[in-house]
Amino acid sequence: MNTIVFHPESDPNAVRDAAAILRRGGLLGIPTETVYGLGADALNEDAVSRIFLAKGRPQDNPLIIHVPDASWLERYCRSVPPAAYQLAERFWPGPLTMILPRRDIVPLQTTGGLETVGVRCPNHPVTLAIIEAAGVPIAAPSGNTSGRPSPTTAPHMIEDMDGRIDGIVDGGPCTVGVESTIIDLTEDRPRLLRPGGITPEQLLDTLGDLVVDKAVTAQIDKDAVVKAPGMKYRHYAPQAPVTIVAGSREKAAAYIHRHFEPGDRVLCFHEELPLYAHCDPLAYGDEADAATLSAGLFAALRELDSPTVHHIYARCPVGGGIAYAVQNRLKKAAAFQIVDAEAEA
Ligand code: TXA
Ligand code: MG
Repeated sequence: MNTIVFHPESDPNAVRDAAAILRRGGLLGIPTETVYGLGADALNEDAVSRIFLAKGRPQDNPLIIHVPDASWLERYCRSVPPAAYQLAERFWPGPLTMILPRRDIVPLQTTGGLETVGVRCPNHPVTLAIIEAAGVPIAAPSGNTSGRPSPTTAPHMIEDMDGRIDGIVDGGPCTVGVESTIIDLTEDRPRLLRPGGITPEQLLDTLGDLVVDKAVTAQIDKDAVVKAPGMKYRHYAPQAPVTIVAGSREKAAAYIHRHFEPGDRVLCFHEELPLYAHCDPLAYGDEADAATLSAGLFAALRELDSPTVHHIYARCPVGGGIAYAVQNRLKKAAAFQIVDAEAEA
């Protein structure tokens, strides 16, 4: 299959032609503010099953559907609570996915057999225009091969999906850089299933209540029953083992220098580059600005995803806000391997 690359900046027909791919049941790479998605008509079972094939994704891992605004919630979800509209009002379009009860029109293929469905309105003008033109919600997981870091540029997605999908829309680099925040609104209390660009602080401020699911903070056994099935799979991980080295700059550098061997790499903050001049460092953003860390993390993990890299020592931001989402992705990439350089010294 020849994968067409659309350039909406210069091609006035890009939105129309991309929407046509969705309408005929094809697969389309779509830009969003979080990561690139591997999209198909969410209501078309055959199209949706091709997403799982192209990604090599386990069939029980549900897809989220992308809509152009909150008025579409009623079409695909039952008993939408007022909280959903409050969140949509404040954070859509944006990096927030809500889990709600599914209507029968949404096929079980899309929801991985669940009676709930994840819905999000992405903040990317081209993708919103494509959904409107197609007239159907787009089911889209992240556009990586299952297990690899999510793509945050069109070339990254082409690396994984060239020849496997009908087209990809190049909408530039993703500004947020980690996948959407997922909140489950189907229980008595709102539950955070995955941290992202909308922070726990913002959710708590809107809802007045929030439970953080244990899958967010700890390694989940692969046989466990979890709310977000995607959280139990190995994720975001380069081929080499990743160790997070926690602690002050100086103590962490001392630890890494003691353990570093040729072929190892250091994933650090820009501010720390001078400390690792002889350790092949790669900076993914500024410690002082966690949004740059979230925007740069997956591209850096992709760059380090090579058989020539033996071990990766990573520095992880502390604190809340978007840093919380960065911690979550990095800890998953590290399979929760964390050493405390303060204690080791
Ligand atoms: O930012 C994003 O959310 C990106 C872009 C493309 O929109 N999409 C994305 O999709 O990250 P994916 O499939 O890589 O991650 C979706 C996560 C998975 O962990 C999945 O298990 C969970 O959402 N999920 C989807 N539907 C669910 C449901 N009904 N109940 C619980 N978890 C669900
Ligand atoms: Mg994914």
